[in-house]
Amino acid sequence: MSSKNFNLAALAGDGIGSEVMREAIKVLRAIEKRFPLQFNITEAPVGWAGIDAAGKALPDTTLELCRKSDSILFGSVGLPDRDPTIPKEERPERAALLRLRKEFGLFANLRPVKLHKQLAHACPLNLDRQAGGIDILVVRELTGGMYFGQPKKTEEIVIADRQDGNLHPVLRAIDTMVYTTPEIERIAHVAFKAAQLRRKKVTSIDKANVLENGVLWRDVVTRVSKEYPDVTVEHMFVDNGAMQLMLKPTQFDVMLCENMFGDILSDEAAALAGSLGMLPSASLGATNGDQTFGFYEPAGGTAPDIAGKNLANPIAQILSVALMLRYSFGQNDAANAIDDAVSKAIASGLRTGDIFNPADPAAKKIGTREMGDAIAAGI
Ligand code: IPM
Ligand code: MG
Repeated sequence: MSSKNFNLAALAGDGIGSEVMREAIKVLRAIEKRFPLQFNITEAPVGWAGIDAAGKALPDTTLELCRKSDSILFGSVGLPDRDPTIPKEERPERAALLRLRKEFGLFANLRPVKLHKQLAHACPLNLDRQAGGIDILVVRELTGGMYFGQPKKTEEIVIADRQDGNLHPVLRAIDTMVYTTPEIERIAHVAFKAAQLRRKKVTSIDKANVLENGVLWRDVVTRVSKEYPDVTVEHMFVDNGAMQLMLKPTQFDVMLCENMFGDILSDEAAALAGSLGMLPSASLGATNGDQTFGFYEPAGGTAPDIAGKNLANPIAQILSVALMLRYSFGQNDAANAIDDAVSKAIASGLRTGDIFNPADPAAKKIGTREMGDAIAAGI
């Protein structure tokens, strides 16, 4: 049987990026041995690695490679120690990550949060609150809202002092939250379609009691929901949503969020899965034929404090590979093989430090590399 070929750009970035990327590639190589799939993987620098190699967070050659690839496998970028030393527009988060999202129109961000049974103790909630299982898909709009809206600037203005009436210069920062109907429609469709393949419930998050954006969001989502009569839709204010995640996370199936609310709630939800190191993420653009260009990354950061020490949890990066096989290439069997291998590694007691509980007699603390080896062996 001839095998299918895919071109991948692997951008490991900074901090723990290269360590967890190495394990993800190891797992891809294991997939090649078992399935008729082949991956041409080209690595390129991004983030501070890009600045050090070519003077910018997203070097032209890296961007060119991404354009020629079928998908991007991304690590993470940004180093809190170095970031403040350059202008904010040039920092890795904005100049590489946000730029790539915009450049490739990656409007749909999917973040599946699933608490493995054996990690119940790593979840900050007690067992009662986990009963029934925590299995949430956060669908986050990724190219609109406050992250990209214009104007976006910090400016000096003059205001009158309340005491003496004298004029004083002060700084004023402005971010703009803006959404158009089509932007809300397309992400709503993604959420409802995803729900049809799951437990058929969408909880749409907004702040319709205060924000114009919230009112429009709710109207559009309600209208789109009519096209999916098999899916239950519910609307929730974001503050209540944050609270409900703590009180009764099992009520959620798909959570549909605008950009900033999704950023915040997906981290909160990730903590429920035991660690940010367990949370993969898929960022998708438009579909072309049977392939969707996607950008796959762990949702955790660069964790410079543990970088280079073989301590990072590679599972989020490895699960991101599974998302890529599923969403970009339609290779569900291969994706399931990765998900199963991760479950097996966890079931056998293997734990990186972030999910290790010394009180669990079956748990064995291992490093990044060993976790990658075990998962690759389980494919
Ligand atoms: C995320 C991250 C990014 C975001 C940062 C690094 C810009 O927090 O992917 O959730 O806010 O989108
Ligand atoms: Mg975030």
